[in-house]
Amino acid sequence: MLSPISCVSRVVVLLAAVLVTTSITMSGEWGEEGVTYGQLGKDVTLTCAGISPSAIVEWRWDGAAELPEGSRLQQGQLLLPQAELPSEGTYSCHDAASGLLLGSAILRLGRLPGVPSVSCRASNYENFSCFWAPGVETFLPTRYITTYRKKLLTEDERQRSQPSDVGLCVQNPARPHACTVSKAQFWSSYRMNVTEVNPLGSTFRLLDITVQAIIKPDPPEGLRVEPVPSAPRRLRVSWEYPSTWPKEPHFQLKFRLQYRPFIYSSWSVMETGNMSELITDAFMGLGHVVQVSAKDFLDAGSWSEWSAEAWGMPATDNIPCLSSGPTVAPSEAAPGAMEPESPAEKPSLAPDNEPVAGQSDPTEKVAVLVSLGVFAFFVLAVILVFGFLMWIRLKKHGKEATKHHDLLAAAIHMKTLPRGLCKLWTFPKWCCQAESFCC
Ligand SMILES: *[C@@H]1O[C@H](CO)[C@@H](O)[C@H](O)[C@H]1NC(C)=O
Ligand SMILES: *[C@@H]1O[C@H](CO)[C@@H](O)[C@H](O)[C@H]1NC(C)=O
Repeated sequence: MLSPISCVSRVVVLLAAVLVTTSITMSGEWGEEGVTYGQLGKDVTLTCAGISPSAIVEWRWDGAAELPEGSRLQQGQLLLPQAELPSEGTYSCHDAASGLLLGSAILRLGRLPGVPSVSCRASNYENFSCFWAPGVETFLPTRYITTYRKKLLTEDERQRSQPSDVGLCVQNPARPHACTVSKAQFWSSYRMNVTEVNPLGSTFRLLDITVQAIIKPDPPEGLRVEPVPSAPRRLRVSWEYPSTWPKEPHFQLKFRLQYRPFIYSSWSVMETGNMSELITDAFMGLGHVVQVSAKDFLDAGSWSEWSAEAWGMPATDNIPCLSSGPTVAPSEAAPGAMEPESPAEKPSLAPDNEPVAGQSDPTEKVAVLVSLGVFAFFVLAVILVFGFLMWIRLKKHGKEATKHHDLLAAAIHMKTLPRGLCKLWTFPKWCCQAESFCC
């Protein structure tokens, strides 16, 4: 039944078993046959067992007679003081006279497990998962034993329980460093035990948790942002429960919405128990970014991460200044409900781009117009007063000819300056409602 190859490998394993040391565990259970494990930085002793004390033994390292620096022979044993990683390799002992192989083993060096760090999270009220990270790098094959013990709250529970009431936190090979407890009890406390085991030893970490404290839903899904017809400052936002949250009347979610025009960086936030909400203070004619997050309705645990961003623009069919605007084509603005996560539809805005006139807030435009008007009025008044004073002065001096000439010059100034101003600010004609003053 056994193939010749497996017979040979069994013989090799038997031979390997002759090597024993104080600081070394031997193991086939770690999936590496014929491997011997030693602790980094400690003295490692390799023994060629079953040899009579008087026999003369010779050691080889990876087949060569040269041994790691600092190594010594002691009555047939090979001592590697404060072994470090370069001393790993295949060691074999031979009969000094005949060179006959007496035994061999692969030496691997590493550390004892450190205390792992552990955290747990429930993305719904039925199951929760724990995640861990090793405390130190051990360089050795490692496995984890993950168990829990439910804390018993009532005297009755304590009496009925057995000391061996330990549950398994189930590990999934597809998700390393994580385990899941199914059918958890929302109001119960659990003592988690994550034990790290390697060929040199084991270390465990305990963590006490309650499900309601570690609950953190996944972000809501299917976020949509749509314009409201004829309402230039409104956006309708809707979303769905995260698919990992079972819908049940006793365990509901509440939501938090954040939104901003895409050219600004500060968010407005609102909280709601609904699955859709109306934004009533959107900026006219601007694309908006919206995100939503969820939390247990009774405030247990923490808020979910923010959902993926969704984009939308309020309806532009009712804005006087923008209706004829060249930059916002109605066909572009009306379907506004842009699909989330589709970058092609995001309005592009290079970071150094100033918003062009057609995209800035209409209230800002009105403010600019008003301040320009006030400014022009003052310039005009100053020129008039100046001209009047000149005229008085010239009249006093009785130089009629010069007076007429100066008045003419002042009049020319009065006519040309506002025009110059208009040029300076390059107001787009279509948005210049106070045309009488500048255009
Ligand atoms: C909880 O775990 C069980 C068993 O693994 C699974 O059948 C169930 O779908 C999980 N519940 C949720 C809400 O993910
Ligand atoms: C944690 O689990 C390990 C492995 O099952 C066990 O040896 C250890 O005693 C446990 N620790 C406690 C405090 O239960």
